[in-house]
Amino acid sequence: MHKFVVSAMVREANKIYKSAMKKYCVIGYPVKYSLSPRLFNTAFKKAKLSAKYEFAEVAPGDFGKFMRSFGANFAGANVTIPYKQDVIKYLDKISEEARKIGAVNVIVNKKGKLIGYNTDVFGAMAALKTGIKSLRGKRAIVLGAGGAARAVVYGLKKAGAYVTILNRTLARAKKLARDFKCEFGGLEDFAPCDILINTTSVGMWPNIKVTPFPDLKKQIASAQKRPVVMDIIYRPHITKFLRDAKSAGCRIITGDKMFYAQAAKTFKIWTHFYRFRNSDPLTSGGGGASSTSVSP
Ligand code: ATR
Repeated sequence: MHKFVVSAMVREANKIYKSAMKKYCVIGYPVKYSLSPRLFNTAFKKAKLSAKYEFAEVAPGDFGKFMRSFGANFAGANVTIPYKQDVIKYLDKISEEARKIGAVNVIVNKKGKLIGYNTDVFGAMAALKTGIKSLRGKRAIVLGAGGAARAVVYGLKKAGAYVTILNRTLARAKKLARDFKCEFGGLEDFAPCDILINTTSVGMWPNIKVTPFPDLKKQIASAQKRPVVMDIIYRPHITKFLRDAKSAGCRIITGDKMFYAQAAKTFKIWTHFYRFRNSDPLTSGGGGASSTSVSP
């Protein structure tokens, strides 16, 4: 008798769990050109998970309100330009790495508590590895001083590179350089280097004719060495910045490498919470049917 009751309860719990659609989103401004919804919806479908992923284009004036109601509406999110730093104050907890970086690009809603992670650093380092063997002792120039730059600079420093940050707003470059013990300057302060990375949004679809570094060809032609050049923008696939670098004879690393690597890590973080999906939720130790159904 007891056995039958338990099986019926498990069946019922599984039904509820399977029908509980989890919602994820990418929060940014602008965000409508992001490929994340297409990528994650395909992955959720293939993994047979009851989840959907949408755009959350949130204007700066609405960001606070959006974040205060986030926990009631979403199981998780990606965070992009310009909120990777601002989002931290709305979270209950952040990972040790995200704290050190000072930027969050992934949120998990764990039973109503919002936890922030940074998968940009993993993505950037995985992308760099496709074009350069070791970063130790290399000279790197990072264009930009926003949330994405923080992850890239953190990863480069940890791997033993010497980093210079160049940014339009000098005060921001100065702050980032102080936080990570680097050099800094304005966008025009190029110097010979082994690695050059764009982390600004300049050149992103639909403004594809611009580059953060219009002098790139001239500057590289007059330098003795050709740096490996990476852009974190993945749309378009080859930005003007990368096109210029390629025609100056540099090896290039396209932004899709970082995009896919960070997305894979993000998916791993989110789906970690699905691991009890096909087992008996009342006996698996997964926290019970209701907790597996409502938390990501
Ligand atoms: P994210 O968190 O995704 O990095 P962000 O914090 O808004 O986004 O940072 C965007 C970066 O792109 C900044 O370095 C920004 O420069 P400023 O600090 O001067 O704002 C840079 N950026 C954006 N638009 C730019 C432009 N038109 N020219 C030069 N740099 C630009």
